[in-house]
Amino acid sequence: MPATAPPPAIYRSEAAAGAGAPRDSRDDGVAIPPGGDVGSDSIMALEGVTFAYPDGTVALRSLSLALPRGGRIAILGANGSGKSTLFLHLNGILRPAQGRLLFGGAPVRYDRRGLNELRRRVGLVFQDPDSQLFATSVRQDISFGPLNLGLSEEAVRAKVEAAIRDTQIEELADRPTHLLSYGQKKRVAIAGVLAMEPEVIVADEPTAGLDPEMTARLMGLLDRLHASGRTIVCSTHDVELALAWADYVIVLRHGELLGAGRPEDVFCDVPLLRQARLAVPIVLDTFLRLRDRGLLGTPVRPPRTAGELADVIAERLTDTSPAYSSPLGSAP
Ligand SMILES: Nc1ncnc2c1ncn2[C@@H]1O[C@H](COP(=O)(O)OP(=O)(O)OP(=O)(O)O)[C@@H](O)[C@H]1O
Ligand SMILES: [Mg+2]
Repeated sequence: MPATAPPPAIYRSEAAAGAGAPRDSRDDGVAIPPGGDVGSDSIMALEGVTFAYPDGTVALRSLSLALPRGGRIAILGANGSGKSTLFLHLNGILRPAQGRLLFGGAPVRYDRRGLNELRRRVGLVFQDPDSQLFATSVRQDISFGPLNLGLSEEAVRAKVEAAIRDTQIEELADRPTHLLSYGQKKRVAIAGVLAMEPEVIVADEPTAGLDPEMTARLMGLLDRLHASGRTIVCSTHDVELALAWADYVIVLRHGELLGAGRPEDVFCDVPLLRQARLAVPIVLDTFLRLRDRGLLGTPVRPPRTAGELADVIAERLTDTSPAYSSPLGSAP
């Protein structure tokens, strides 16, 4: 599996997107059309998946989407939009009432063998770590998955210790799980998933409730896992984080696909964000306001981090080319 995948094509109209040129959807208000082909190698896909809970709540409605292989994929949507329900489908805990789930292009089979295979390849980190952890000690909990693979004791120990090292939880390894803090439980839950060495890691709001340092450490871990060739799928309400981290963003609303594409395209689509009840990331909001006032001159690529925004502004402040006359006056 390649360490990095080419940036997935976005499935919005190229004309609307200005054939790759930066665009401001405030100008044309074109939303990303739901559905369609991502036009890239997908590791998993949903085709027309509909799912209702036993009480009749319809959580997914004819949902079709593809997860680019080797991608860093962020799933966004308001509370109740279907993110967790989607994730529970991705490793076969829930089964579509209609439609189908594909892994590597082949439909998932829901017999015992098919499900075991899917769960070995797709590791799910639950939104609530208490739903995931059940053994009394941290090490026991992390060992549970590898033990069930029927490996030798030595092989299990090697996987468990590697997962403990990777998640930097050495100091927690011998503690009872129920005494850990929320953030510590989250890392243990991730270690349990890592010990299974899945190809796809699906993490439901992995940074919710974490302090900034823990968030940075966790995203660093997900980046290392991504660099080792894995596909990482995270749901989040943090639009700044999704903009900076993801290379592909999927937006859900009422169990339907509202849009998908490169983060800088999706997050510049202000009407789409409004429909999804998502905030415009501050970095892009500032960028779009400066651009709307004509302060940025010729089109530039939307920034994804505060640092990139600072670079865009600094470049304009120091731009002395005759073609560009800065409304802020010339730089010293
Ligand atoms: N066990 C359940 N039984 C009945 N309805 C459920 C159940 N779990 C979720 N739902 C409903 O399914 C819909 C989708 O919920 P889901 O938990 O997938 O949303 P979400 O996007 O993960 O939300 P959040 O951001 O709050 O985590 C909601 O209307 C929710 O009330
Ligand atoms: Mg959820």
